This record gives sequence, C-alpha cells and structure tokens, in this order.
Amino acid sequence: MVTSAPPASSAPNPATQTSNERLIVALDFPEASAALACADKLAGSVSWFKVGLELYLAAGDSIISELKRRGHRVFLDLKLHDIPNTAASAVRSLARLEPDLLTVHAAGGRAMLTAAAEAARSLPHPPRLLAVTVLTSMDTAALAETGVSASPVEQVLRLARLAAECGLDGMVCSPAEAAALHSALPKALLVTPGIRPAGADAGDQKRIATPQFALAAGASKLVIGRPITAAADPKAAAQAILSDMAKSNPTK
Ligand code: C5P
Repeated sequence: MVTSAPPASSAPNPATQTSNERLIVALDFPEASAALACADKLAGSVSWFKVGLELYLAAGDSIISELKRRGHRVFLDLKLHDIPNTAASAVRSLARLEPDLLTVHAAGGRAMLTAAAEAARSLPHPPRLLAVTVLTSMDTAALAETGVSASPVEQVLRLARLAAECGLDGMVCSPAEAAALHSALPKALLVTPGIRPAGADAGDQKRIATPQFALAAGASKLVIGRPITAAADPKAAAQAILSDMAKSNPTK
C-alpha cells in the first residue's frame, strides 16, 4: 500500500501543474468501466493516462474516445512490431483515435521505424512516437537466447540511437537507463515506468526508483500505475506524488 498524506489544499499551484504534464497514470484494468471510474476519481489532478494492450483489446476504441472526451491526453501503449508497410498502416489506422503518445518496438529495425515515424508525422494530429528498446523483463541471458550478445544497457543504447536516427521522438526506458539515454540523446523524450514513491509496494517490479530519482536522471514523463490506482484514495496518492515531483524538480 502507498502511505501518503492528503495534500493541504486541492487547489492546483503552478509547480504542480508542471508536474501534472509529467505524470502518466497507467490504467491497467480488464474493462472500461473500472478504468473510467479510476480516471474520473483522478480528474483535476491527472491529465495523462496510459492505455495498454489489456485494456485496449478488452474495451476497444471507446476507451480512448471516452478519455479524450473528458479532455485527457492518451498514451496508447500498443508496442507495434511488424514489417514496415504494416507498421506504417497501423499507425495511420490509429489516427482516428488521436493518441498523444504511441509505442513501436525498436527491434523492428531501421526501415520499420522510419516508415512508422513518417506515417505518424503525416497525420493531422501526429502522435509522438516512442521506441520500446529492450523489455525490462529481459536480462543478459534472455537476450543471448535471442542471438544478442550485448548487455541489456548496450542493446538499449544501440536501439535508442537507431530510433532517434529514424525520427522517433523518444523511448520508454527504466529509470536505471534514463541517465545514460539522456546523456546520449539529450533531446529524446524519455518515458519511465518502474516508479515507486518511497515506502510503496514494489509489486512485481524489480528495478524501481522514486519519482525524484527518475526526474533527476533525465526522465521526461513518469508512468505510474498501482501506487495510484490501487491506493485507498487514488487522488490523494496522485497529489502526494505530484507535490513531490514539483518539489524535486520544479523547473523541468
Ligand atoms: O503498476 P505499475 O506502476 O507497475 O505500472 C507500470 C506500467 O508500465 C504498466 O502498465 C506496465 O505494463 C508498464 N511498463 C513497465 N515496464 C516497461 C514497460 C511498460 O512496467 N518496461
């Protein structure tokens, strides 16, 4: 459980509003009603939500349109990975949903990344395209089994550079990799899951960091799920995290 005191006041201040642009709440729910109920509890504090494969495949387009109708920004985390023509067509097909952030697998290679980035830029409401590099569930041995002899961090850097060369806007990375990526690619948008406020349950996450650590390492936006969505009072948990983010990094 997250232990967090409710904020002294619910009135937003300018620093918190800046942090609000940098917090993405992961709506990992099996169906739309629970996801929307959670988003509605957080209304006024949180404006970015991540919809992953589980929720999108269960709820379909309507979950995106409902979040957009409420004025939220949507990170659609579908991790596209296919031949260049199909990946680009998928990006164009998702245009109707107007996602603000969208993911593709960097392992799809230069041609696929370039085609996806060109497709995204051609849309009337272009999403920012993020590369998934090495899944955080993979270690050196798992990479070796797929024929990759590099260490995870070497492979992350190689794929991140490739994605940047192909015109992608940024990467999803763990807080542990954020500093290396920020120094190699200072203009890239770095979105980091694996965030836990001090004292919160790690759950199934292994390599975790506090919001302050991730921001100091150069993360642009933080993805946080259960420390907020499973809290007894999700809005209070979100506001406590936003206040900490604003204190730790008020100007970024
Ligand atoms: O509940 P929690 O804060 O662990 O949720 C983190 C979110 O970020 C989940 O939606 C998870 O799928 C996603 N994610 C992750 N690690 C990655 C990529 C995405 O935890 N490498």
